[in-house]
Amino acid sequence: ASTDNKVNYSNDVIYQIMTDRFSDGNANNNPTGSLFSADCSNLRKYCGGDWQGIINKLNDGYFTDMGITALWISQPVENVYSVLNDTAGTASYHGYWARDFKKTNPFFGTMQEFQTLINTAHQKGIKVIIDFAPNHTSPASEDTPSYMENGKLYDNGTLVGGYTNDTKDLFHHNGGTNFSSIEDGIYRNLYDLADFNHQNPTVDKYLKDSVKLWLDMGIDGIRVDAVKHMPFGWQKTFMETVYSYKPVFTFGEWFLGENEVDQNYYNFANTTGMSLLDFRFGQKLRQVLRNGSDNWYGFNSMITESEAKYEQAADQVTFLDNHDMDRFHFDGADVKNTDLALAVMLTSRGVPNVYYGTEQYMTGNGDPNNRKKQTSFNKTTKAYQIISKLAALRKSNQALGYGKTKERWINNDVYIYERTFGKDVVLVAVNKSKTASYNITNLTTALSAGSYSDQLTSLLNGSSLSVGSGGAVSAFNLSPGEAGVYSSNGTAAAPAIGQIGPVMAVPGSTITISGESFGTSVGSVKVGTGNAAVLSWSNTEIRAQVPVLAGGNYQVSVTSSGGTVSNTYGPVEVLSGKQSSVRFMVNNATTSPGQSVYIVGNVSELGNWDAAKAIGPMYNQVITKYPGWYYDVSVPAGRNVEFKFIKKDASGNVVWESGANHLYTTPSSGPGTSISNFQN
Ligand code: NOJ
Ligand code: NOJ
Ligand code: CA
Ligand code: CA
Repeated sequence: ASTDNKVNYSNDVIYQIMTDRFSDGNANNNPTGSLFSADCSNLRKYCGGDWQGIINKLNDGYFTDMGITALWISQPVENVYSVLNDTAGTASYHGYWARDFKKTNPFFGTMQEFQTLINTAHQKGIKVIIDFAPNHTSPASEDTPSYMENGKLYDNGTLVGGYTNDTKDLFHHNGGTNFSSIEDGIYRNLYDLADFNHQNPTVDKYLKDSVKLWLDMGIDGIRVDAVKHMPFGWQKTFMETVYSYKPVFTFGEWFLGENEVDQNYYNFANTTGMSLLDFRFGQKLRQVLRNGSDNWYGFNSMITESEAKYEQAADQVTFLDNHDMDRFHFDGADVKNTDLALAVMLTSRGVPNVYYGTEQYMTGNGDPNNRKKQTSFNKTTKAYQIISKLAALRKSNQALGYGKTKERWINNDVYIYERTFGKDVVLVAVNKSKTASYNITNLTTALSAGSYSDQLTSLLNGSSLSVGSGGAVSAFNLSPGEAGVYSSNGTAAAPAIGQIGPVMAVPGSTITISGESFGTSVGSVKVGTGNAAVLSWSNTEIRAQVPVLAGGNYQVSVTSSGGTVSNTYGPVEVLSGKQSSVRFMVNNATTSPGQSVYIVGNVSELGNWDAAKAIGPMYNQVITKYPGWYYDVSVPAGRNVEFKFIKKDASGNVVWESGANHLYTTPSSGPGTSISNFQN
């Protein structure tokens, strides 16, 4: 997808830049004094990197030649100017300590330079994703207002309020989280960061107005920081704001540790309209190719599990490492492991994201050693070339962006897998052993009969492959550390949908459908059984208007002008309307052990009276305590909703609240609160 399709990144390769650590293109904007380390020997200070440095690299072809089509940059907003009172005097070079979301970080550049960055990137066919951290402002201490900047928030220069004496109730004052539960992590401070109260109308409007300002600058995507730490209901309203205003691909950071599996993580990816950074994928690939604590069987199980659990696996953002983990490559390690990991990531489902410096085999364990200044811009490293070859293949063969994954041959060392979409096929063979060769016999592929050369041009020693009738691959040898990638393109007979963005939309808004064989004459699009007006149509991309439908999840299909129907794709959540974050609270709901309280009501966002789709479990520890319960829910704005609270246990046994339905008129804009007494 080109830069004019901002809701489909399936064919893109993202490159993650810590703006301060990439390239200093303008020494005049560098901080001075205790904020700055001119030679970047103190990794806790600013090092001078800026947007001009990125612009220069766009202009000299560093990204284009690597095949990079999207840049994820540090949060661009103004950050605190003070330093932490730690031994290093840590400065906010990383961009996560905002003070004014409507101004730029002057050490990165001016609004004008930001605009030049966007324009230059777009001229090169490259998208720009901003990091955005709406969970908090900056480190603050309730009792010591002089600590840092007391978390103060400014609105384009005007003070809104600080953490101490927070009479406007902008922030939470529940102490720091011990990460004991999701609720604890949302409503208490993450470390010492002044934690926003998103139910405050000023905060809600401020953050949504801020993101609109950056959308107006022409950004193409958003990486949302710390999504596990903000109310999910509010985040859904945030996404509705983005999608109703200027829809861009948005992915959140929900950190998972090694072998951590969390159904809440999948639920988040499937219900908020936001994708996730694919920590399941990244952690597992690191186990296989970085620390050796798992093998390809474990990797293949992760692929199978996650393709089943993500409703849109292709929209999750895969990675090998980032600024919060040890770099993938480490001193003393064989660079071959990084090469193989890149080859696997770039041919796997999901949108691949390369952390800056990986292509230069940079090393560094832990923060801030994983955030060193980019060491060189060498275009001849093997990693750089692997990325370049496979980024090109992601553009030319749709199996990589849209295809399902099938394991074809596996042992602890060898993984041969196939991606297919319509008649497009990519077969990948990897041997991670340092010593063992494997003779691969009895391999079957969907590639049609013929001879195939390695798409990596033998960068990882791949040989050519010979496929006979019925997809029988002639026996071949996979040498230690070898990887080969084999590709064939075909034209699907029927329209094939590969991706839709966004997958959450209000009636009347636009969705973009990508795939192939839609035909060149206009056909029709169905969302459920509703006909969607076609706004534009090409063989590979359709824009359609979501019809007026009751809120709920729908499958989408395309019918060509000749009457051939596509696969169904979905679900796409049609919202009941513009959304508002409402805090539902209920007093005196006593439960037996194992039971939790949920909300269910008469709109799709409240489960349409289906107890199985009730919202919850509600919380009862921080904002209110048992037997009081609360939960922040994204519901249609300006609507009379009816609802009840139910008690549900893990086996799905439901006890309905008695009496009449509760009634609440949701605010027409901004958040609201509804308080009920439980009716026994
Ligand atoms: C996650 C970011 O990636 C990390 O670097 C940052 O410190 C925290 N969120 C807080 O913003
Ligand atoms: C069952 C609930 O008890 C009631 O309050 C509600 O009106 C109906 N479901 C709607 O079908
Ligand atoms: Ca600079
Ligand atoms: Ca929070």
